[in-house]
Amino acid sequence: MNSTIKTEPTIFVIFGGTGDLTSRKIAPALYNLFLDGWLPHLFSIIGTGRTQFSDEQFRENLLNDINQFSRSGKAEKAKWDEFAKNVYYQVSDIKDAETYKEFGKRVDKHNEEWNVKANVIYYLAVSPNLFPIIASNISKAKLAGDPEKTRIVIEKPFGHDLESAKELNKLLSGIFNECQIYRIDHYLGKETVQNIMAFRFANSILEPIWNRNYIEHVQISVTEKLGVEGRGDYYDGAGALRDMIQNHLLQLLCFVAMETPISFDADEVRNRKVDVLRAMRKFAPEDVRLSAVRGQYSEGWMEGKEVPGYRDEPKVNPDSNTETFAAIKFFVDNWRWHGVPFYMRTGKRMHQSASIITIQFRDVPHLVFPAEATESWQQNRLIISIQPEMSIRLQVQAKRPGLDMVLNTVDMVFDYKGTYSSQAPEAYETLILDTMLGDQTLFMRGDQVEAAWELIMPILDTWQGKKSLNFPNYSADSWGPEIAEALIARDGFHWFSLPIAGKK
Ligand code: BG6
Repeated sequence: MNSTIKTEPTIFVIFGGTGDLTSRKIAPALYNLFLDGWLPHLFSIIGTGRTQFSDEQFRENLLNDINQFSRSGKAEKAKWDEFAKNVYYQVSDIKDAETYKEFGKRVDKHNEEWNVKANVIYYLAVSPNLFPIIASNISKAKLAGDPEKTRIVIEKPFGHDLESAKELNKLLSGIFNECQIYRIDHYLGKETVQNIMAFRFANSILEPIWNRNYIEHVQISVTEKLGVEGRGDYYDGAGALRDMIQNHLLQLLCFVAMETPISFDADEVRNRKVDVLRAMRKFAPEDVRLSAVRGQYSEGWMEGKEVPGYRDEPKVNPDSNTETFAAIKFFVDNWRWHGVPFYMRTGKRMHQSASIITIQFRDVPHLVFPAEATESWQQNRLIISIQPEMSIRLQVQAKRPGLDMVLNTVDMVFDYKGTYSSQAPEAYETLILDTMLGDQTLFMRGDQVEAAWELIMPILDTWQGKKSLNFPNYSADSWGPEIAEALIARDGFHWFSLPIAGKK
């Protein structure tokens, strides 16, 4: 633990305490923060849900979750006991004002026992349609009054479109100050994503080439082998554009394209990111067809197992028009990026699970080598691999050993595994700790969310207004629909996937 950073006494209330997010992410994250000494000496975790559990039963469930999902493996008894005595459960109906009075009493009780005024964090790990009612009830019970001490964490999706995001922002800002609102985009908590900022702004060699003069194009590709995994009801109303592009992928683009902030202050960093979103070229409805393509997967085989097509997934409309793949070409209209295309693609049931950003640099102005030397010629590329491999590789040309002059692409690689022995924390550990510390750098500000919605609305409206006639148009375990290849091939490029390391 970094001894200079200290968390203050905290009461952590989880709405949706019995839900999947709590099991898989929040509980393991809290436990690992505890193990690593980041939780304050005085803390209390209160899970809440409709199911009748005693504190003991709730603790037992969390223990099972942690044993199954924690990066640190099974919990050790002594450590677990020490942690678990701070865990409680409250049966509650989140629509009922009484529930919140109970929270109020619990908070008062802890404050009295601890003889401090603790920070209170309300974590909304519930379905988005419950955000407004919970926020309003917190307010009615006068639990949100102290901006220094009370924080609210809102999971994604933040809104269903621009209008609903604005509405939610309006409601929240009538109750909380912006400094109390923590809108989660878990990609921002990933080590490798944070490292984009470190890499760009802690190294002087990059800035001179980080612009249109040296960079030809940028690709952001987040492909998943997984399908919708039992989340058909949510996903069918969302689709790849809402689920991934509006948030995770646009955030990655912001980190690549942002100007240098003058400090690491939360608002300073977020201002620079909003600048990028504002500079992005807006689509006129007639541009959508040229710059954005959608896809939906059909059945196929993945790793020797037959998998259903999207329309046959549970809780999905058999005639669904929802896209499970999207590829878009964006431009950032400012001096730095004028004319540099940013291609984005994301999809489910793809051939590879990998999140990578590739920066392709411009070609050399004049080739001095004979044709035989340059058969496998490739422009320089910087590949930032976010997951599963955590690495940054710079691809350059070098002479292959031998008596003749033959050039090859070689990788200069920084990889986390080979460089550091410590395990990287999970995104949720970083984000929960930041919530406790009151650091909003890695959270979405209200205007940021709205700017991202504004950008994708024309695509969303066009796709919703016009049913795709060729869905499903890519098979499971493929690289997506052919039209996605065409989108980028028109400009003379092709999509990059994560290179498999190996000898040349
Ligand atoms: C979530 C989406 O926000 O991100 C999921 O709702 C997606 O559909 C997931 O699978 C991807 O996150 P990660 O961390 O596994 O890349």
